[in-house]
Amino acid sequence: MTNPDLRTRRRRLGAFVGGLAATALAVTMALPAAAAGSTLQAAAGESGRYFGTAIAASRLSDSTYSTIANREFNMITAENEMKMDATEPSQGQFSYTQGDRIVNWARQNGKQVRGHALAWHSQQPGWMQNMSGTALRNAMLNHVTQVATYYRGKIHSWDVVNEAFADGSSGARRDSNLQRTGNDWIEAAFRAARAADPNAKLCYNDYNTDNWSHAKTQAVYNMVRDFKSRGVPIDCVGFQAHFNSGNPVPSNYHTTLSNFAALGVDVQITELDIEGSGSSQAQQYQGIVQACLAVARCTGITVWGVRDTDSWRASGTPLLFDGSGNKKAAYTSVLNALNAGGTTNPNPTPTPGPTTPPPTGGGSCTATYSEGEKWGDRFNGVVTIRANSAINSWRSTVTVRSPQKIIATWSGTPSWDSSGNVMTMVPNGSGALAAGQTVSFGFTVQHNGNWTWPSVTCSAS
Ligand code: G3I
Repeated sequence: MTNPDLRTRRRRLGAFVGGLAATALAVTMALPAAAAGSTLQAAAGESGRYFGTAIAASRLSDSTYSTIANREFNMITAENEMKMDATEPSQGQFSYTQGDRIVNWARQNGKQVRGHALAWHSQQPGWMQNMSGTALRNAMLNHVTQVATYYRGKIHSWDVVNEAFADGSSGARRDSNLQRTGNDWIEAAFRAARAADPNAKLCYNDYNTDNWSHAKTQAVYNMVRDFKSRGVPIDCVGFQAHFNSGNPVPSNYHTTLSNFAALGVDVQITELDIEGSGSSQAQQYQGIVQACLAVARCTGITVWGVRDTDSWRASGTPLLFDGSGNKKAAYTSVLNALNAGGTTNPNPTPTPGPTTPPPTGGGSCTATYSEGEKWGDRFNGVVTIRANSAINSWRSTVTVRSPQKIIATWSGTPSWDSSGNVMTMVPNGSGALAAGQTVSFGFTVQHNGNWTWPSVTCSAS
């Protein structure tokens, strides 16, 4: 049955401006009878899409900034506050204060959050930059597990891996300490993220992947196609979309988005900014929006900052609001393009209302390791979980050092990451504990010559 409040209209999107796809598209779409959205989020919502921005926690106290951000956008990305250096400044010591400022602001204002970014060669904390091999692989996986677990239930999409391919014509992976841990580091990160937060969409995110004929675009496409064929848990591809005169919006942008979507993933424009001004800039923005709207699985657009002066490249005036918070020509062209409509996203994610309560619980727990029995080839370990305040449940990770293997467990339900070195244990049945209460689980490690104690963590909900 057709909703009587919706009317189906047939529209013809003209040739994309600014040299974008010259083909005219005929699309069938359903739009609310009440017409145009007067904000970016309302206009994008007409076709089931979101419109987002990057937010810097330090700017939220600027009322011009937060007023625009709250009015116009319904998807929020932390510009820097959830990166590896921010969330794990010392190994095993996690810091969520700045990330929480942004997540809490977003949720209090009924907005979704894109998580950025779990694993990246850049913005690594100092301790990680100096690591390599198995130790780095395990540290990366533990980081992914811990951060995704901490934010579980609060993230619409995670940039699980960021910028892992080289620029230029090689089509190769970028050389980095993470890449040198083995070519499977990307899929290992995705598997760890899925285990930690099964409901978040998991994205690969990169730049210079806009032009379909570029080697880097093809390389990422081939990786995603391979992941889909082998069941690696990937749900989306993020196109950063940082453009300027040296890296203009390509004429085949729509082809790129549509070919990736055809692999069975959502595509998202994740960090859009276009240097320039006036009608030239406005036309390029319009073209990007039209390209997204022409692809049903292009589910949303995020610009990389609010005002030009908030941008990481402020001198290029690449955003939709000027330094005083006035709407630019680019803003109007984006709003109009959104209101002109296009395909409808078949699976829009509902935006949480401002009154949505945060996940229950919220207490914290501590995991303590103690030695158990020892034999020639194996030893037992016991982990005691203590609730520091009342909790509804807990999860604990146990990381063993290769070539150790966990060969038996008790008093919990285990799962493993792809390396087999990180075990995540959850309670059998309810994990509710009163403040101060403890519970234990155990396991047997075949040590294969390595007697190092496992490291353990706990997170509570
Ligand atoms: O906050 C400190 C300040 O206290 C200090 O005095 C100053 C001195 O350098 O640094 C400030 O931190 C800077 C931070 O931005 C906040 O402004 C960092 O140095 C600077 O490195 C950091 O740059 C960020 C950059 O990522 C780091 O890689 C940009 O804000 C951020 O917009 C940019 O975002 C990236 C995406 O994550 C990935 N895609 C590309 C995009 C643009 O480069």
